[in-house]
Amino acid sequence: MIISCANEKGGSGKTSTTALLGWELASLGYKVLLVDCDPQSNLTDLMIKTKSQENTEITIDPSLFALLINNRNLKDGIIDIKDNLSLLPVASDMNLFSRWLDKQDLSEKEKVTYLKNALNNLKDDYDFIFLDVSPTMSLTNDNVFMACDWLVIMLQTQQRSLLGAKSFLEYLQTNLINTFDSKVDILGILPVLTKGQSKIDNSILKTAITDFGEGNMFNNVITAMERVKRYDLTGITEDHKNVWDKATHSVYTAVAKELINRLGVDNK
Ligand SMILES: Nc1ncnc2c1ncn2[C@@H]1O[C@H](COP(=O)(O)OP(=O)(O)OP(=O)(O)O)[C@@H](O)[C@H]1O
Ligand SMILES: [Mg+2]
Repeated sequence: MIISCANEKGGSGKTSTTALLGWELASLGYKVLLVDCDPQSNLTDLMIKTKSQENTEITIDPSLFALLINNRNLKDGIIDIKDNLSLLPVASDMNLFSRWLDKQDLSEKEKVTYLKNALNNLKDDYDFIFLDVSPTMSLTNDNVFMACDWLVIMLQTQQRSLLGAKSFLEYLQTNLINTFDSKVDILGILPVLTKGQSKIDNSILKTAITDFGEGNMFNNVITAMERVKRYDLTGITEDHKNVWDKATHSVYTAVAKELINRLGVDNK
């Protein structure tokens, strides 16, 4: 199953959620691949930091862009992070992907499904493939959403994130579902609280329930945790004696379990 956490607004928790959901699903026994499709390479940096806690040297060669434009097997770029969890890293040359693709002698449909086709031979090796995206509307991101079976819409409890979620859904319907017959579906709207039970949090959540329908909202929410920010510096840690690690992983594990239930996937 190919999934992406999406919202048009930047900084809405897409990358952190992707990394930690992947981490928890791998811990639960599912085989997970994280694919970084964002030239900012935040997911790559986070996972490399996580892996280099083991003091291993990691080089990104070939880059995702190089693999894609040379029609190579994407398996050649995959790095193992921990048991059941792998990463296909990105480098800044991914910035060139939209422009490169646009210049190819391909139909519009072939252009938007280029990544989907390239991912095809990885699908059988993983239970979940997560694609991390930049907060832009581009041919690269159209490729990501066309490749996905499911999207998790990230809703940070801020007015701009709510607007970003709505305009993203409109864009998806008009440009990918109506135009290219994309079969992507919305798994749910996942709230990320900015403060944690503040008035603003509650008021945005209420509006979201009215706008999107209660059944479309995840029951679990992601709370604001300093530990998640710290992982950007240290890589993901999971020290079972550390209360902050424990609290953080339990929040993302609950979301991972809800994701499994929503998908109707067998429990491991
Ligand atoms: N649950 C959380 N609690 C506290 N901070 C968080 C949480 N989730 C994400 N953050 C922090 O918020 C910032 C933005 O998160 P993140 O990079 O995941 O967002 P993004 O949507 O991927 O951003 P971009 O659109 O730039 O790709 C980061 O500094 C991250 O550490
Ligand atoms: Mg990101």
